[in-house]
Amino acid sequence: MTACNSQSPDTAGSPEASPGAGGSGSQTLVMATSADYPPYEFIETASGSEEIVGFDVDIAKYITEQLGYELQINNVDFNGLIPALQAGRADFVMAGMTPTEERKQNADFSEIYFEAKNTIVAQQGSNLTTTESLSGKQVGVQLGSIQEGEAKEIEGANVVPLNRINEIIQEIKAGRIDAAIVEDTVAKGYVESNPDLEFNPIPNAGESGSAIAFPKGSPLVSEFNTVLQEMKSSGKVEELVTQWFGDE
Ligand code: ARG
Repeated sequence: MTACNSQSPDTAGSPEASPGAGGSGSQTLVMATSADYPPYEFIETASGSEEIVGFDVDIAKYITEQLGYELQINNVDFNGLIPALQAGRADFVMAGMTPTEERKQNADFSEIYFEAKNTIVAQQGSNLTTTESLSGKQVGVQLGSIQEGEAKEIEGANVVPLNRINEIIQEIKAGRIDAAIVEDTVAKGYVESNPDLEFNPIPNAGESGSAIAFPKGSPLVSEFNTVLQEMKSSGKVEELVTQWFGDE
């Protein structure tokens, strides 16, 4: 039932891609994420250890611990996350991923555990603050994200899909693209560390929020939902929201 039964050796991003070999006797679940999304998931380099940390990671740790699983986290480009589930390379995905109707054809989702809004990120003073202002502009988005879908709806915008959010930010700073559509909490963090940029919220055009994704038919969905519900009613989710998103 888990990725350890069908693990292929090419699981992206991790030197120890084969879970389940540990001698502890407990089963290892493989989580795939795209660790370019602070504060949901990002690589903590300060400690020198290159560990993936964040809001999603803490939720995943809590749930798997409650259910008695070991947890292994693999870093994959966002666009490769659902394919990783389908290929049996991951047991679940947590990546601030929105449970869209389209994705639900290829994956099952938990309940939503966090809501978000979209924003436009651009250079300070560029006046790119509304979707209308993006007409004729180069607009960066993460490949395979709902933001890519939304940008394509904007009249006259030239959509530039890129793999990683940090690449998008670098392209704006370098002036090679004009703006990007990025979720509020993530935009806030990147703008705080790049004062030459600004972000402005835009109305949500469609689906939003984050949920955990699983392979179709996975028995983990209901197990995870039970713990998620408990985390919501006990205030654990709220505690993690405050810890990672601060003054929300
Ligand atoms: N919520 C958006 C979506 O589902 C973007 C998520 C991007 N996540 C990431 N880890 N880069 O498409």
